[in-house]
Amino acid sequence: MTEAILLVGGKGTRLRPLTVNTPKPMVPAAGVPFLTHQLARARAAGVEHVVLATSYLAEVFEPYFGDGSALGLQLEYVTEREPLGTGGALRNVASRLHSAPGDPVLVFNGDILTGLDIAALVGTHRTSGADVSLHLTRVPDPRAFGLVPTDGSGRVTAFLEKPQTPEEIVTDQINAGAYVFTRSVIDAIPGGRPVSVERETFPGLLAEGAHLQGMVDSTYWLDLGTPHAFVRGSADLVLGRAPSPAVPGRHGEHLVVAGADVAPDAKLTGGTVVGAGARIGPGAEVEGSTVLEGAVVEPGAVVRESLVGAGARIGERTVLDRAVIGDGADVGADNELRDGIRIWCDARIPAASVRFSADCT
Ligand code: GTP
Repeated sequence: MTEAILLVGGKGTRLRPLTVNTPKPMVPAAGVPFLTHQLARARAAGVEHVVLATSYLAEVFEPYFGDGSALGLQLEYVTEREPLGTGGALRNVASRLHSAPGDPVLVFNGDILTGLDIAALVGTHRTSGADVSLHLTRVPDPRAFGLVPTDGSGRVTAFLEKPQTPEEIVTDQINAGAYVFTRSVIDAIPGGRPVSVERETFPGLLAEGAHLQGMVDSTYWLDLGTPHAFVRGSADLVLGRAPSPAVPGRHGEHLVVAGADVAPDAKLTGGTVVGAGARIGPGAEVEGSTVLEGAVVEPGAVVRESLVGAGARIGERTVLDRAVIGDGADVGADNELRDGIRIWCDARIPAASVRFSADCT
């Protein structure tokens, strides 16, 4: 049986302020910590033993997932004293693996939502005899990513930095953040210091002549590293566009978690999620958004493609469009917050009427 390592120790800086109090894999997507979807998908693919490589806010994982038996898994937790990077984290958990040196070990980044056929990736690894097999995905605009070209047999030929000129865009294939390592390759990563698997381990293996195999597909794939992507991914889970056995209830336009209070005439659309204890007031419209637990959206407010943090309050008639509101923040009535604006945890924004009268005096 294949076992897996999940890399969940990153600081999630691009997702701030959501990751100020909560590590990225524990931010709820479709009503449950995002990591639940990955664990459930791994279990569905036959994985039984998972090691979580933790660092940032490490203490919150075990109290929630325990020994993993609720998900049918055997979970172990390893915490780094100092962040070791993606490769260092793998080496640091190697002693917990049960696999023999030649066995395949699955590795997942903790922030990828994907329909990857996990068994197919393991199959590719076995049949190609690779040292490492990488899931690759195609993106319409590869300029923001390191590129991973392959030859006619799918063997990786290079790891290229983000392209700076059109001539440097030699492929639209990028590293999708899911791998199969032959166990002995993990054991050979240097111990006790930070190592980046993307920048050091993979290019180093290629230079030594190791066999790195790519598996390209066109399945659902989203890196939930930014607030907008996170909200999109959560909505796609609710709408059924992204596959996960862990979405509570049936797919539909919205997901209201037990204990939330939604006014009968409030409109929830586009995969919106309302967390436990949250309240949506009369006449409010919430579209393609995530409202975390205990947050309040007051009457007549409009929330589009936005994320409202735990315990935050959105005032009457306020409009949010692609905004992120940190935990406990308070946005007064009649404000308009748009275009990727981020409001820090516990910040206070007065009602627009108060701000305008202050500006005029
Ligand atoms: P940003 O700071 O926003 O880039 O996010 P991040 O910290 O999650 O970094 P990145 O997206 O590059 O990380 C890819 C995966 O590796 C994520 O699942 C991280 O949790 C994980 N990761 C990154 N650095 C470390 C580390 O030092 N230790 C461990 N255990 N995991 C890490």
